[in-house]
Amino acid sequence: MTLIVTGGAGFIGANFIFYMLSIYPDMRVVCVDCLTYAGNLSTLASVMGKANFRFVKISITDQKSIGKLFEEEKPDIVVNFAAESHVDRSIENPSVFLETNIIGTQVLLDAARQWGVKRYHQVSTDEVYGDLPLDNPNLFFTEETPLHASSPYSASKASADLLCLAYYRTFDLPLTISRCSNNYGPYHFPEKLIPLMIANALNDQPLPVYGQGLNVRDWLYVEDHCAAIDLIIRKGREGEVYNVGGHNEMRNIDIVKLICKELGKPESLITYVSDRKGHDMRYAIDPTKIHEELGWLPKTKFSDGIRLTIKWYLDNRSWWEEIISGEYKNYYERMYGGRQ
Ligand code: NAD
Ligand code: DAU
Repeated sequence: MTLIVTGGAGFIGANFIFYMLSIYPDMRVVCVDCLTYAGNLSTLASVMGKANFRFVKISITDQKSIGKLFEEEKPDIVVNFAAESHVDRSIENPSVFLETNIIGTQVLLDAARQWGVKRYHQVSTDEVYGDLPLDNPNLFFTEETPLHASSPYSASKASADLLCLAYYRTFDLPLTISRCSNNYGPYHFPEKLIPLMIANALNDQPLPVYGQGLNVRDWLYVEDHCAAIDLIIRKGREGEVYNVGGHNEMRNIDIVKLICKELGKPESLITYVSDRKGHDMRYAIDPTKIHEELGWLPKTKFSDGIRLTIKWYLDNRSWWEEIISGEYKNYYERMYGGRQ
C-alpha cells in the first residue's frame, strides 16, 4: 500500500503522516511538498529515516515531476493537503492561491486518473460555505449548504472542490472530499490565531485581535481531523463530501483570554486592531453524516487539546522561534505593523 501525502511538511499534513505511520507502520508514505514558507522539513525529522518513508521536494503544480513521481511510486491513495492556507495572505496576494490550490489540484487529479489511483482525497475546508450569522446559533453547515466563499483563499478551495466533483462525474475518478473546521495542535504555523497568540504572549508582545474578537470558529484538535481522513479514505463513499467538526464553537476573544490565563500573562497584552477584509463571522459544522455513516467522533475535548497545544509550544520553542525570527518578521511587519 503506497500513500502519497501532499503538503506533508505543513501543519495538518505532517500530523497526518505521523498518525498514519503510527497506526499502519508498514504503509509506504511518500510526502510531496515544495517547502513554501509554511513547509518545514524539520517537522518531519522523526520519520525521515524510516525505510517506508520518502520525502520529495516538488510542487503539485509541476505536471511533469508529478507525473514522473506517480509513474515511479504507483500510489494506491493520494491525500492532497498541499495548499496556500492563510486567509490574510490570500487578501494580500491572491494569485499564488489560484495557482497552487486550483491548478495544483488539477495536476494531481490528472495524474491520479492516468495512473489509476484507487482513492484520491481532497482536504477541503468549511470556509467554502461562507459564513453563518452570530444571531442564529441553530444554523450549521451541512454538506448540502451552497458554496459561498468569502476570501480568495476560500474561493480557490471551493474551485478545487468543484473540479474534484467534476472529475468524479466525468471520469469516474474514485475520490472523496472532506471539509473540516479550524484545526489546532502541534506544528501549527505561527501566523494562525492560536499559535500566534501563544508565541506573542510568551514573548510579552501585543496580542492583535481583529475587530472586536466576536467572530466564532469551530475548533478541532488536529489528530481528530487525521482520524476522520483515515476513515474517509478507507470507508467513505466515492464522490461524497464529508463535513468534519466537533461542535466546539468559540469566540476569538475567549480563546485569546484563555491562552493568557493558561500562560499566566495579563489580558492587557490584548490589542484590538482593524478587522480582516470580508471577515467571516461564524463557522459551525454539522458532522452528522460522518458520524452516522462512518462512526467518527472527535476524541479530544478543547480544554485538553488547548493545554496539550500550549505545552507543545512551550516544549518546542526552537521550532517556532526559528520561524518567527526569519522571513516571517517581514510578513508580521506588513500585516501588523502600524495596524490600528
Ligand atoms: P499549511 O499552510 O500549514 O501547510 C501547507 C503545506 O503545503 C506546506 O508544507 C507547504 O510547503 C505545502 N505547499 C504549498 N504549496 C505547495 C505546492 N505548490 N506544492 C507542494 N506543496 C505545497 O496548511 P495546513 O493548515 O496544514 O492546511 C493543510 C490543508 O488543510 C489545506 O489544504 C487547507 O486548506 C486545509 N484545511 C486547513 C484547516 C486548518 O485549520 N488549518 C482546516 C480545514 C482545512
Ligand atoms: O475553517 C478552516 C480554516 O481555518 C482553514 O481552511 C484555513 O486554512 C485556516 O487558516 C483557518 O482559517 P481562519 O481564517 O479561521 O484562521 P486564522 O487562524 O487565520 O484566524 C482565526 C480567527 O482569528 C479569525 O476570525 C481571524 C482571527 N484572527 C486571526 C489572526 C491571525 C485575529 O483576530 N488575529 C490574528 O492575528
